[in-house]
Amino acid sequence: MKKENKIKKNLIIENPKENAGAAISKSKSYAQPKHTPAKSIKEPELERKYQFITTISDDRGEEIKYLGIPLSKLIEDKNGIGDIIGLLWLKRKLPKYASNFVELVIEAVADHGPCVSGAHNAIVAARAGKDLVSSVASGLLTIGPRFGGAIDEAGHYFKWGKDSGLSPEGFVNEMMKKRMLIPGIGHKVKNVNNPDKRVVLLINYARKNFQKTEYLDYVLKIEKITTSKKENLILNIDGCIGVLLVDMLKSIELTEEEISERLNAGLLNAFFVLGRTIGIIGHVIDQKLLKSNLYRVPYDDVLYRLPGQEIP
Ligand code: ACO
Ligand code: LMR
Repeated sequence: MKKENKIKKNLIIENPKENAGAAISKSKSYAQPKHTPAKSIKEPELERKYQFITTISDDRGEEIKYLGIPLSKLIEDKNGIGDIIGLLWLKRKLPKYASNFVELVIEAVADHGPCVSGAHNAIVAARAGKDLVSSVASGLLTIGPRFGGAIDEAGHYFKWGKDSGLSPEGFVNEMMKKRMLIPGIGHKVKNVNNPDKRVVLLINYARKNFQKTEYLDYVLKIEKITTSKKENLILNIDGCIGVLLVDMLKSIELTEEEISERLNAGLLNAFFVLGRTIGIIGHVIDQKLLKSNLYRVPYDDVLYRLPGQEIP
């Protein structure tokens, strides 16, 4: 059985409840903004009456409203993309330090060159003549547990470790027992001697602006243990975003329930998806302008391991 299949099997059988970040909750939930007025009709009656329920935006009037605030007002008050994300994703008017952090995350993950999974796939698709949307989708579809999509699980497991009172050593041991790679740890090219500047930037911002960075502090102790085993087992950008978003959600005073609902809904990975879309679009347009031709993997890059063939 392949390593990842073993891991999944292990997770699903042994830890059904703990695996919230991976096996997204199937329970139906209708998270309501705090200011929602008490309802006069019961939820099942509403569900019978209406096809959809929405709690974030309304375009029925003269102009679109995000969480009840007209777009013109948001623009007039100089709200940026971080503020809009706060309204539409978190259903909160974020304090400035938090909306700036959200923008910093988007800027930090916007691109990481052409060689990473997302950009690579998008470039190959664009060079095969696919249109912008298809090429971007092809890049985005690589986002997952190993690339860019480890943020949810990193947030989930680091939070779980700290909240369960596990020491950093205990956390590493527990993950080993689960036969899991620690989500948010490890990088292909970055290591203790070649640190990821994005991680440093985000940590510095959080230390300066968040009320507390208790989850980050916990994870940095975990990183000390993992890097003592192998120098590339650093806190990576996914892990850093995951744990700092948990610290941020705590500091903007979401309840435990609200945080776990959002983690289960896959909210944390959304920050990478949104940010990296910027870079992927850039790569696709770049290839179109370069009029790049069809890409084919060179034979020399492939080891042909078929019956009757010698390994060179
Ligand atoms: N936790 C524990 N051990 C690890 C981890 C981890 N997260 N990552 C790698 N290792 C160990 C492996 O078990 C292996 O040990 P071994 O030599 O004793 O068998 C060794 O380190 C090398 O493992 P590889 O999978 O070959 O490492 P690689 O450098 O190719 O992998 C990767 C990098 C994919 C990021 C990996 O570290 C990983 O899967 N991390 C967890 C997922 C994750 O956080 N991904 C996001 C990366 S950042 C981004 O994509 C934007
Ligand atoms: C990224 O942001 O794409 C990465 O950290 C992955 C990589 O291998 O550089």
